[in-house]
Amino acid sequence: MSRIAIVSAMAEELQGLKAQLSDGHTTTTRAGRTFWIGRLGPHEVVLALSGIGKVAAATTAAVLLGGGFGIRGLVFTGVAGGLGRGVRVGDIVVAGELVQHDMDASPLFPRHEVPLYGLSHFPTDATLSARLQAAAGQVLAGLAADDGTAPVLRAADLSTLGLATPRLHHGLVLTGDRFVATALESRRLRKTFPEALAVEMEGAAVAQVCRDFKRPFAVLRVVSDRADDAAHLDFTRFIQEVASRYTVAVVRAMLAAEVV
Ligand code: ADE
Repeated sequence: MSRIAIVSAMAEELQGLKAQLSDGHTTTTRAGRTFWIGRLGPHEVVLALSGIGKVAAATTAAVLLGGGFGIRGLVFTGVAGGLGRGVRVGDIVVAGELVQHDMDASPLFPRHEVPLYGLSHFPTDATLSARLQAAAGQVLAGLAADDGTAPVLRAADLSTLGLATPRLHHGLVLTGDRFVATALESRRLRKTFPEALAVEMEGAAVAQVCRDFKRPFAVLRVVSDRADDAAHLDFTRFIQEVASRYTVAVVRAMLAAEVV
């Protein structure tokens, strides 16, 4: 058995995909987490709810990859706060690499380096990420044309939220055990990581676990807020109304292209 794992931190982020699982799917609970095993179209998948933060995400990834599920690749999906200039609410970010922005074992190790790994920036799998980008690009192009190829998400849904034409970004994503909700903090992060596109709370932890298990890994994030003083307001509305539909559209497009 060879399955793709799709992991989200929050129930709202996973609900759309769960609704698309084939009849006859099974659920199992391990380490306090629920895993849904079934098919999305012709593809065998395991959907997992990790909970929020690096430890919760790392535990979930370790359980998924540690045995029994037959996972050949893992995609983490969810929302993120936009940091980069031009990274706006409603945009999609596919991570090229991830850093734990709150890792600091200096002066024993350089700031942000994960001790004993010899690196701070954890790359995602190039092939899986390219396929995720292609799928996201396809969904966004369908949205722009409003041609019905992204049926679970329509341009009108975005415009009612005041969102402009969404764009796709690829590059550095920051991870830390903090919901970044002040302009001051996001400015600090931008200063330290000028190339950072977005900030979230799980990706780099999962990247580290996938590296340990030598399993391909990619991250898809929809920008829910600008990691500033209004972040908590934007975040709640966005996650309820848009995020899970985005995930369904992109993951379905990725699977339809026989990525896995
Ligand atoms: N996920 C979504 N928005 C976020 C933010 N502002 N900070 C951290 N994680 C997030």
